Amino acid sequence: MPRGASERGISVGIHDLEVATSHFVVSLSELAEHNGTDPAKYLIGLGQREMSFPAPDEDAVTIGAEAAAELLARTGVEGITTLLFATESGIDQSKAAGLWVHRLLGLPASMRVAEVKQACYGGTAALQAAAGMVARAPQERVLVIASDVARYALDSPGEPTQGAGAVAMLVSAAPALVELDPVSGRFTAEVDDFWRPNGMLEALVDGELSVAAYLDGVESSWLDLAARGGPSVERLAAILFHQPFGKMAQKGLRRLSSVVGRDLDGAGNTAGEAINSRMGNSYAASVYAALAGLLEYGLGEEPLSTGDRIGWFSYGSGSVSEFLTGTVGPAATTRSGSGGIAAKLDARAALGVPEYRALHTARGETPEVTDRLLPRTTRGRFRLAEVRGGARRYEGV
Ligand code: COA
Repeated sequence: MPRGASERGISVGIHDLEVATSHFVVSLSELAEHNGTDPAKYLIGLGQREMSFPAPDEDAVTIGAEAAAELLARTGVEGITTLLFATESGIDQSKAAGLWVHRLLGLPASMRVAEVKQACYGGTAALQAAAGMVARAPQERVLVIASDVARYALDSPGEPTQGAGAVAMLVSAAPALVELDPVSGRFTAEVDDFWRPNGMLEALVDGELSVAAYLDGVESSWLDLAARGGPSVERLAAILFHQPFGKMAQKGLRRLSSVVGRDLDGAGNTAGEAINSRMGNSYAASVYAALAGLLEYGLGEEPLSTGDRIGWFSYGSGSVSEFLTGTVGPAATTRSGSGGIAAKLDARAALGVPEYRALHTARGETPEVTDRLLPRTTRGRFRLAEVRGGARRYEGV
């Protein structure tokens, strides 16, 4: 029987994962004060405390490369045949963002690299594609990077839900962190709740419709999972939700409660909010940042135990939903209480609201193709150094 194989088939999943975020952070209390908004609307109404904001020399590539560099320092690159980069804030219409990461990290030439897009669902699409590749060739490993900068117009309803973050995951056979169950629940319905036409830096959003479409996705993907013989809700130690903002996870849990006819409010069910409420929306990375949060903070005071089964709901506007489940492996317990992600969030540089607004405006007024040299701002190990003739040049420290 090949490595990682069992009577259920090949065991495939997330062997290890790492989170990265941007250089700057903006306090939502300060944003509320500046806007004349009651801070409780952001802190309680949306469930958000802070938002990560990129320096001018940062983007989805630099943040994604940061997460992957830290991950690969632990796992090595042996056996990695594929890099899938999931993003909806890609920086080129043709060239995959992962190609710059491939060069920055000095990855082997004998690999394939591609970009995956379906709004915030892209990370899950990449994870599922990676799992399929590994199931076909269990000796191979796939690097998945979900990385996004969530940007909305100044003074728009979406503004306090901005953020920036990346999660890099190594997908392998016999995974140490989370083994994916072979069955998942899916739901697709074309809807105009959130979209970003070519040439636009900011998404167009029908906020109310996006909340309704998300909740339809929770219900329909759960019912699909149940119809396919997925685990009952009683067998899940924790349920994670894609978190455009923290309150959305609570709404998702409430909808699921009404579908299964059982109150699911309880310790840990919305675990992951501790990270997302400080990082803001990280689109494709968001639900996997919540997973990292669950692993680090555990369920309430309790760390996860090997063999615990967890579920997570992935949603991408437009819209595609998927409910996945998996079993926690032995490495999960070692991450509990490490404080690693909290330290990264604490390390961000505070940006005052006037300075944030100036950077936001300047970014919006600079066409992508404008030739420019970018002064070093980020303390991250990778940065965008130059744009010349529309081509981007990144550098490492
Ligand atoms: N104190 C406490 N709570 C308050 C409050 C106050 N002073 N003022 C408002 N709230 C609550 C509201 O009751 C509401 O809670 P509820 O959803 O439980 O009813 C919440 O804060 C948001 O208020 P609302 O007026 O609905 O917000 P909004 O119109 O400014 O926009 C979004 C909210 C989510 C639509 C907006 O942030 C957005 O467009 N985000 C981007 C799209 C997105 O993330 N969609 C999610 C699915 S992908």
